[in-house]
Amino acid sequence: MQIINKKEHERTFARYIHDFGVIASRWLKMKDERLKEDSEGLIERAEILKRWEIRNKIVLDIGAGPLAIIAARDFNCTVTNIDISEDAFSDVKRDAEREGVTDRITFERVDATSLSYPDDCFDVVISYGALHHIEIGKRRQCIQEACRVASEKVIVAEFSSKGFRKFHAVSDLKPVALDWLEYELESRGVLDKYYGTQMNVYALLSITVNVSISCCVFTSPSGTV
Ligand SMILES: C[S@@+](CC[C@H](N)C(=O)[O-])C[C@H]1O[C@@H](n2cnc3c(N)ncnc32)[C@H](O)[C@@H]1O
Repeated sequence: MQIINKKEHERTFARYIHDFGVIASRWLKMKDERLKEDSEGLIERAEILKRWEIRNKIVLDIGAGPLAIIAARDFNCTVTNIDISEDAFSDVKRDAEREGVTDRITFERVDATSLSYPDDCFDVVISYGALHHIEIGKRRQCIQEACRVASEKVIVAEFSSKGFRKFHAVSDLKPVALDWLEYELESRGVLDKYYGTQMNVYALLSITVNVSISCCVFTSPSGTV
C-alpha cells in the first residue's frame, strides 16, 4: 500500500514538473517575441489582437480609430467602437465602408467612464491609446467600467513617458501614470505586461469582480495618476 502511494506521489510530482516546464517555456517564448512596431514606434494594433488571441470575439473598443476596423476585418470580431466625440468617428466610419465591415462594427457616442452596458456583455474591452485622452480624475472609473462589462479580458495600450513626450509634447493631455495603471489593473486580476519602445500593453487576463481600493495615492513628476 505504502509502495503504491509512493509511486503515485512520484507520478504526480513528475506531472507537476512537466506542466511547470511547459508553462515556463511558453512564458519564456512569449517574453522573447517582441511585438512589431511601426516606423514611429507605435505597437501595431494587429500584433496586440494576435498576441492576446482576440479572434471571433465581441469587443468594446474605447476611442474611435483603426483598431476597430482591424479587429472586425482581420480577426472576425464584432466591435462596438465608442467615443465621446461624434466628430471622431468620421474617418473610421469611412474606413469601415471601404473595408466592407459595417455589418460588424457599431459606432456609439458614449462616455467610457460611465457605460450603460450590462455587466459582462463583451468578451473583451480594449483601450488603444485612449486612456490619456480621459481626464485624470475619471481614469479609474474608466478602468472600473471596462472590467465590469468585460467577461474575459481588458487590454490597455498606453504611452510610456518617452512615447508621450514624443507624441504629445505640445498638448493639454496628461500622461497616464503607468505605475498607477499597473497597480489598478493588477488589483483586479491576472495581469500580463508588455513594455514596448514608446508604448506598453497591459492585458488583464482574468477579471476579479467588485474590487474596492480604499486609499492609494500615486504621485509622479507631472502630478498625474
Ligand atoms: C487616440 S484616440 C483612440 C485611438 C484608437 N483606439 C485607435 O485605434 O487608433 C482617443 C479617443 O478617445 C476619445 N475619448 C476621450 N475621452 C473619452 C471618453 N471619456 N469616452 C470615450 N472616448 C473618449 C477621444 O475623443 C479620441 O477620439
